[in-house]
Amino acid sequence: MMNEEIKVQEVNEGLPRIGSPAPQFESVTTHGTIQLSDYKGSWVILFSHPADFTPVCTTEFMAFQEIYPQLRELNTELLGLSIDSVHSHIAWVRNVEEKFGVKIEFPVIADLNKDVAMKYGMIMPGESDTSTSRAVFVIDPNQVVRAIIYYPLSAGRNMDEILRLIESLQTSDEHGVATPANWRKGEKVIVPPAATQEMAEERMKEEGIECVDWYFCKKELK
Ligand code: BEZ
Repeated sequence: MMNEEIKVQEVNEGLPRIGSPAPQFESVTTHGTIQLSDYKGSWVILFSHPADFTPVCTTEFMAFQEIYPQLRELNTELLGLSIDSVHSHIAWVRNVEEKFGVKIEFPVIADLNKDVAMKYGMIMPGESDTSTSRAVFVIDPNQVVRAIIYYPLSAGRNMDEILRLIESLQTSDEHGVATPANWRKGEKVIVPPAATQEMAEERMKEEGIECVDWYFCKKELK
Protein backbone atom coordinates (compact mmCIF):
# COMPACT_ATOMS: atom_id res chain seq x y z
CA MET A 1 0.00 0.00 0.00
CA MET A 2 1.28 3.49 -0.86
CA ASN A 3 2.20 5.80 2.06
CA GLU A 4 -0.46 8.29 1.01
CA GLU A 5 -3.17 5.57 1.08
CA ILE A 6 -2.07 4.46 4.57
CA LYS A 7 -2.24 8.09 5.76
CA VAL A 8 -5.80 8.53 4.42
CA GLN A 9 -6.85 5.19 5.96
CA GLU A 10 -5.41 6.19 9.37
CA VAL A 11 -7.18 9.55 9.27
CA ASN A 12 -10.48 7.86 8.43
CA GLU A 13 -10.24 5.10 11.04
CA GLY A 14 -12.60 5.42 13.98
CA LEU A 15 -14.58 8.27 12.45
CA PRO A 16 -18.17 8.56 13.59
CA ARG A 17 -20.74 6.88 11.41
CA ILE A 18 -24.53 7.15 11.41
CA GLY A 19 -25.77 5.05 14.33
CA SER A 20 -22.52 5.14 16.32
CA PRO A 21 -22.00 6.97 19.64
CA ALA A 22 -20.96 10.60 19.17
CA PRO A 23 -17.29 11.03 20.22
CA GLN A 24 -17.17 12.84 23.56
CA PHE A 25 -15.17 16.03 24.10
CA GLU A 26 -14.58 18.93 26.44
CA SER A 27 -13.82 22.23 24.68
CA VAL A 28 -13.27 25.92 25.20
CA THR A 29 -16.08 27.89 23.54
CA THR A 30 -17.33 31.47 23.31
CA HIS A 31 -19.72 30.49 26.16
CA GLY A 32 -17.01 28.95 28.39
CA THR A 33 -15.90 25.32 28.66
CA ILE A 34 -18.47 22.79 27.56
CA GLN A 35 -18.67 19.01 27.29
CA LEU A 36 -20.77 17.18 24.73
CA SER A 37 -22.35 15.26 27.61
CA ASP A 38 -23.86 18.59 28.87
CA TYR A 39 -26.28 18.23 25.93
CA LYS A 40 -27.71 14.82 26.86
CA GLY A 41 -31.48 14.98 26.37
CA SER A 42 -31.28 17.52 23.52
CA TRP A 43 -30.62 17.15 19.83
CA VAL A 44 -27.35 18.81 18.81
CA ILE A 45 -26.17 20.17 15.47
CA LEU A 46 -22.37 20.22 15.69
CA PHE A 47 -21.08 22.09 12.66
CA SER A 48 -17.61 23.15 11.55
CA HIS A 49 -16.59 26.07 9.36
CA PRO A 50 -13.19 26.71 7.73
CA ALA A 51 -12.24 29.99 9.40
CA ASP A 52 -13.45 33.12 11.15
CA PHE A 53 -13.64 36.41 9.22
CA THR A 54 -14.41 34.72 5.88
CA PRO A 55 -17.41 35.70 3.75
CA VAL A 56 -19.20 32.39 3.13
CA CYS A 57 -18.81 31.43 6.82
CA THR A 58 -20.22 34.82 7.83
CA THR A 59 -23.35 34.21 5.73
CA GLU A 60 -23.67 30.72 7.23
CA PHE A 61 -23.35 31.98 10.81
CA MET A 62 -26.08 34.55 10.23
CA ALA A 63 -28.25 31.88 8.57
CA PHE A 64 -27.71 29.43 11.47
CA GLN A 65 -28.64 32.22 13.89
CA GLU A 66 -31.82 32.89 11.89
CA ILE A 67 -33.03 29.27 12.30
CA TYR A 68 -31.80 28.97 15.91
CA PRO A 69 -35.21 29.88 17.48
CA GLN A 70 -36.95 27.25 15.30
CA LEU A 71 -34.29 24.68 16.21
CA ARG A 72 -34.73 25.39 19.91
CA GLU A 73 -38.46 24.78 19.55
CA LEU A 74 -37.41 21.36 18.21
CA ASN A 75 -35.25 20.76 21.33
CA THR A 76 -32.15 21.22 19.18
CA GLU A 77 -28.97 23.11 20.11
CA LEU A 78 -26.32 24.55 17.79
CA LEU A 79 -22.61 24.18 18.37
CA GLY A 80 -20.19 25.81 15.88
CA LEU A 81 -16.48 24.96 15.55
CA SER A 82 -13.30 25.98 13.76
CA ILE A 83 -9.57 25.74 14.38
CA ASP A 84 -9.39 29.35 15.54
CA SER A 85 -8.76 30.80 18.98
CA VAL A 86 -11.58 31.82 21.28
CA HIS A 87 -10.36 35.43 20.96
CA SER A 88 -10.73 35.23 17.18
CA HIS A 89 -14.25 33.78 17.59
CA ILE A 90 -15.20 36.54 20.03
CA ALA A 91 -13.83 39.26 17.72
CA TRP A 92 -15.66 37.76 14.72
CA VAL A 93 -19.06 37.36 16.38
CA ARG A 94 -18.76 40.93 17.71
CA ASN A 95 -17.91 42.08 14.18
CA VAL A 96 -20.91 40.22 12.72
CA GLU A 97 -23.15 41.99 15.23
CA GLU A 98 -21.58 45.39 14.54
CA LYS A 99 -21.50 45.15 10.72
CA PHE A 100 -24.56 43.00 10.01
CA GLY A 101 -26.74 43.56 13.08
CA VAL A 102 -26.95 39.82 13.86
CA LYS A 103 -26.14 38.64 17.38
CA ILE A 104 -24.76 35.08 17.36
CA GLU A 105 -26.32 33.34 20.35
CA PHE A 106 -24.95 29.81 20.06
CA PRO A 107 -21.50 28.73 21.36
CA VAL A 108 -18.53 28.35 19.02
CA ILE A 109 -15.79 25.85 19.87
CA ALA A 110 -12.17 27.08 19.64
CA ASP A 111 -10.61 23.80 18.50
CA LEU A 112 -7.02 25.04 18.35
CA ASN A 113 -5.55 21.60 19.16
CA LYS A 114 -7.88 19.98 16.54
CA ASP A 115 -9.17 17.51 19.14
CA VAL A 116 -12.81 17.63 18.01
CA ALA A 117 -11.92 18.12 14.32
CA MET A 118 -9.87 14.89 14.32
CA LYS A 119 -12.43 12.89 16.32
CA TYR A 120 -15.17 13.85 13.88
CA GLY A 121 -13.14 13.78 10.64
CA MET A 122 -13.78 17.43 9.86
CA ILE A 123 -10.40 17.94 8.13
CA MET A 124 -10.21 16.58 4.59
CA PRO A 125 -6.86 14.82 3.93
CA GLY A 126 -7.18 15.56 0.20
CA GLU A 127 -7.67 19.33 0.60
CA SER A 128 -4.67 21.66 0.31
CA ASP A 129 -6.09 23.64 3.22
CA THR A 130 -5.85 22.13 6.74
CA SER A 131 -8.86 24.05 8.04
CA THR A 132 -12.10 22.25 8.85
CA SER A 133 -14.56 21.60 6.04
CA ARG A 134 -18.25 22.53 6.26
CA ALA A 135 -19.34 19.44 8.22
CA VAL A 136 -22.65 18.96 10.02
CA PHE A 137 -23.20 16.20 12.59
CA VAL A 138 -26.72 15.66 13.92
CA ILE A 139 -26.53 14.06 17.37
CA ASP A 140 -29.66 12.78 19.09
CA PRO A 141 -30.66 13.11 22.78
CA ASN A 142 -28.94 9.76 23.51
CA GLN A 143 -25.74 11.15 21.94
CA VAL A 144 -25.86 8.90 18.91
CA VAL A 145 -24.80 10.29 15.50
CA ARG A 146 -27.94 10.32 13.34
CA ALA A 147 -26.89 12.23 10.21
CA ILE A 148 -23.73 13.61 8.65
CA ILE A 149 -23.42 16.24 5.90
CA TYR A 150 -20.19 17.46 4.32
CA TYR A 151 -19.93 20.49 2.08
CA PRO A 152 -16.81 21.86 0.36
CA LEU A 153 -15.23 25.18 1.31
CA SER A 154 -16.76 26.94 -1.69
CA ALA A 155 -20.45 26.14 -0.99
CA GLY A 156 -22.47 27.59 1.88
CA ARG A 157 -24.96 25.20 3.50
CA ASN A 158 -28.75 25.24 3.11
CA MET A 159 -30.52 25.91 6.40
CA ASP A 160 -33.92 24.73 5.10
CA GLU A 161 -32.40 21.30 4.54
CA ILE A 162 -30.87 21.21 8.02
CA LEU A 163 -34.24 22.10 9.60
CA ARG A 164 -36.00 19.59 7.35
CA LEU A 165 -33.52 16.89 8.38
CA ILE A 166 -34.18 17.47 12.11
CA GLU A 167 -37.95 17.38 11.49
CA SER A 168 -37.59 14.19 9.46
CA LEU A 169 -35.48 12.42 12.11
CA GLN A 170 -37.85 13.44 14.91
CA THR A 171 -40.91 12.39 12.88
CA SER A 172 -39.33 9.01 12.08
CA ASP A 173 -38.48 8.41 15.74
CA GLU A 174 -41.92 9.41 16.99
CA HIS A 175 -44.05 7.57 14.43
CA GLY A 176 -41.85 4.72 13.14
CA VAL A 177 -42.09 5.97 9.56
CA ALA A 178 -39.75 7.26 6.85
CA THR A 179 -40.02 10.48 4.87
CA PRO A 180 -39.97 10.74 1.07
CA ALA A 181 -37.82 12.95 -1.14
CA ASN A 182 -38.37 16.66 -0.58
CA TRP A 183 -40.77 15.92 2.32
CA ARG A 184 -41.88 18.85 4.42
CA LYS A 185 -43.52 18.67 7.83
CA GLY A 186 -47.27 18.05 7.49
CA GLU A 187 -46.94 16.05 4.26
CA LYS A 188 -47.63 12.31 3.92
CA VAL A 189 -44.99 9.89 5.24
CA ILE A 190 -43.83 6.48 4.06
CA VAL A 191 -45.09 3.41 5.92
CA PRO A 192 -42.33 0.79 6.46
CA PRO A 193 -42.53 -1.90 3.75
CA ALA A 194 -44.37 -5.12 4.57
CA ALA A 195 -42.02 -7.84 5.80
CA THR A 196 -44.10 -10.89 4.83
CA GLN A 197 -46.41 -11.88 2.00
CA GLU A 198 -49.32 -11.92 4.43
CA MET A 199 -48.53 -8.39 5.67
CA ALA A 200 -48.28 -7.25 2.04
CA GLU A 201 -51.84 -8.52 1.35
CA GLU A 202 -53.19 -6.86 4.48
CA ARG A 203 -51.34 -3.60 3.85
CA MET A 204 -53.12 -3.14 0.50
CA LYS A 205 -56.50 -3.24 2.30
CA GLU A 206 -55.58 -1.25 5.43
CA GLU A 207 -57.65 1.86 6.11
CA GLY A 208 -55.91 5.23 6.28
CA ILE A 209 -53.00 4.00 4.15
CA GLU A 210 -52.65 4.78 0.46
CA CYS A 211 -50.69 2.14 -1.46
CA VAL A 212 -49.54 2.32 -5.06
CA ASP A 213 -48.28 -1.21 -4.55
CA TRP A 214 -47.54 -3.37 -1.48
CA TYR A 215 -44.05 -1.89 -1.01
CA PHE A 216 -45.01 1.75 -1.63
CA CYS A 217 -47.53 3.04 0.91
CA LYS A 218 -48.02 6.48 2.38
CA LYS A 219 -50.19 7.89 5.14
CA GLU A 220 -51.10 11.19 6.77
CA LEU A 221 -49.94 11.65 10.33
CA LYS A 222 -52.74 12.60 12.69
C1 BEZ B 1 -15.43 31.53 3.13
O1 BEZ B 1 -16.04 31.28 4.15
O2 BEZ B 1 -15.69 32.50 2.43
C2 BEZ B 1 -14.29 30.63 2.70
C3 BEZ B 1 -13.52 30.00 3.66
C4 BEZ B 1 -12.50 29.15 3.26
C5 BEZ B 1 -12.26 28.94 1.92
C6 BEZ B 1 -13.08 29.55 0.97
C7 BEZ B 1 -14.10 30.39 1.37
